[in-house]
Order: sequence, then C-alpha cells, then structure tokens
Amino acid sequence: TPRVFSGIQPSGNLHLGNYLGALKRFVDTQNAGGFQTIYCMVDLHAITVWQDPEKLRHSTRELAAGFIAAGIDPEKSILINQSQVPEHAQLAWVFNCVARMGWMGRMTQWKDKAGKDAEAASLGLFAYPSLMAADILVYHATHVPVGEDQKQHLELTRDIAAKFNHDFGVDFFPMTEPVIEGAATRVMSLRDGTKKMSKSDPSDASRINLTDDADTISKKIRKAKTDFEPLPETLEGLSGRPDARNLVNIYAALADMTPEAVMSEYAGAQFGTFKPALADLAVARLAPITREMSRLMADPAEIDRILARGATQAREITVPILRKTYDIIGMVGST
Ligand code: TYM
Repeated sequence: TPRVFSGIQPSGNLHLGNYLGALKRFVDTQNAGGFQTIYCMVDLHAITVWQDPEKLRHSTRELAAGFIAAGIDPEKSILINQSQVPEHAQLAWVFNCVARMGWMGRMTQWKDKAGKDAEAASLGLFAYPSLMAADILVYHATHVPVGEDQKQHLELTRDIAAKFNHDFGVDFFPMTEPVIEGAATRVMSLRDGTKKMSKSDPSDASRINLTDDADTISKKIRKAKTDFEPLPETLEGLSGRPDARNLVNIYAALADMTPEAVMSEYAGAQFGTFKPALADLAVARLAPITREMSRLMADPAEIDRILARGATQAREITVPILRKTYDIIGMVGST
C-alpha cells in the first residue's frame, strides 16, 4: 500500500489554515482508505527558532490532542512526535551531506524567516528542508498532503531523493507527490485577503484558532474584512476581491462543497447574510473539535502513551530504511 506522511509544527496555536489546508485532509485521507497514513508533530522543526521548553511540551501534547479530536484515529494512522523516532534526525544528517547550500538558500520560507539578518539565524533553520525531506523519505512515503506554502519544500525533497539515487547509483528513495488539493490550500488572513493566515501574525483577529470558543469564532468572522458589494453569480466575479474570495473558499472547505456550489447558493447575497451563515458553519464544525481537545488535554499521560505506541510502530518502518541507507553509503556495522 502507498504511504502518506505529513507533519505540523507544535509551535503555538493550530489555526483554521492548518485545519483546512492540512489536518482535515489528513483525516479524509485516513478515512478514504487505500493508504497507510503517518502523521507527525515536528518538534525538531519547531526548535529551529527558540521555544520555551514548558510551552513546547504543552504545545506538542495539545497538537496531538488536536489531531485526535479532528478525527485521526491511532488505530488507523500512526501518530508520532518527531523526536521520538530518532531515524528522522539521523537521515537528515545524511541529506545535509547530499543537499547543496544553494538549494537551501533559494527557499522562500528561509528568506522570509531569516529576514535581513541571515547571519543570526540558526543553522537548523537553514537546514530545515533537509530534515523535512528525511521525515518523508525515512518512510519511503509517496504522497504528502500539505498547504500551498509547502510546495517548494516538497520539490526540494524530490531533488534530494534524485541526487541521493544518482550519487550512489541506486533507485532507493521514491519521488514523492505533493498533494495540494481542495478549496483551502491557502487560507488567507481575515484582516487582509492578500496575506496568508499564519500563527505569527501579531493580530489574533486575523486567524481562527482551534482553541477559540464559539463566541470568538463568530465575532472574528463577523468582523472579517470585506468590501460592500453583494456576492456575484460566479467565481470569476470574485476576481480582484481577495477578502470575499477567501471567505467563500473557507465556506466551501468547511462544508465539503466546491467554491462554485457556494457561489450558486449565495449569488446576490450581502455579507450581512453570508457572514452569519459562515460563522454558524464554522462553529458547528470547529466547536466539537475544540471541546474534544480540551477533554483529551485533561489526561496528558494518555496522550503520551499514544505517542509512545506510535513511535514503536513507526520505527518498524524507519529502522530498516535507515539501516539500508547506511549500507548504501558505506557505513560499517549497518549490515
Ligand atoms: P506548518 O506547521 O507551518 O503548517 C502545517 C500545515 O498547515 C498548512 N498551512 C496552511 N494551509 C492553508 N492555508 C494556510 N494559511 C496555512 N498555513 C499553514 C501547511 O501548508 C502545512 O501543510 N514544514 C512544515 C511541517 C513539516 C512537514 C514535514 C510537512 C515538517 N516535515 C513533512 C509535510 C511533510 C510546516 O512548517 O508546516
């Protein structure tokens, strides 16, 4: 069976972009069947920028609770915390020696995050995509569901796999397919439809957090920035209206509809009608997840048990793949 792998950083709040662009699709893929699904809290990626240790511990457990509350079933998927499966970091070192500095330097996420002062950024932040390639390839995963912003990293993953195979004359690592599908592969800020919804936006009103209560969710949607025109008849009519387009996409993804179907249902509607409908839909979809997350967080020991079991299952896959990798590159003791 083909394997699916994806991950989310435990660095603060899960938001609606993470949910619609990633987590909800992880659940749909798990439930569709036909794939072995492996989902990961990437704590080693989170520490590429400084994290308060107590907060990191809390966020990792909270993210695990979020995965389970959203529908990831540890009986159907392998659910892990990255640092508990050491082969990720071990393979990343090998890939650090395969990937080129120039490749990393061209990553837009590196350029954005390092900002003007690249000299002061951590070496880990620079090498981030190499660890991400290792996350995927240490399972020989073939499909990776992500939001639009991860596309460049997945292209680099293919470059690393191809260079490794070429350098050692093997056909060992597969070419992974990014799976970037649906109406919400790029959820935008509620305050500015031209900016991505992100946990680092200083304005909390710009995003919906999975920990927000029903009241906060409705308030944020009702206050979302929009223009004053009614919704047009067709999607083309939304071009040049990024804020309106974003709300239509969010509605579509939450309702499991196409944006076209949303347009035909709400053609001619004012935001005075559309926003309350969207707010009700968002609360109906998200509130049960939020409730279940806080129920699960009351028993962190149970979360830790689930992650420990996930790590054991994961290592049945990763240990042999790492050993074979070491063998290919000539490490003594690997066979
Ligand atoms: P991270 O933690 O930033 O985001 C997790 C997932 O959420 C998606 N996402 C969005 N989708 C739609 N709209 C948005 N506004 C939005 N914001 C975030 C991301 O595309 C991602 O799918 N490098 C990754 C984590 C990672 C990973 C991996 C992913 C590490 N190793 C291996 C896949 C495979 C990251 O930082 O995602």
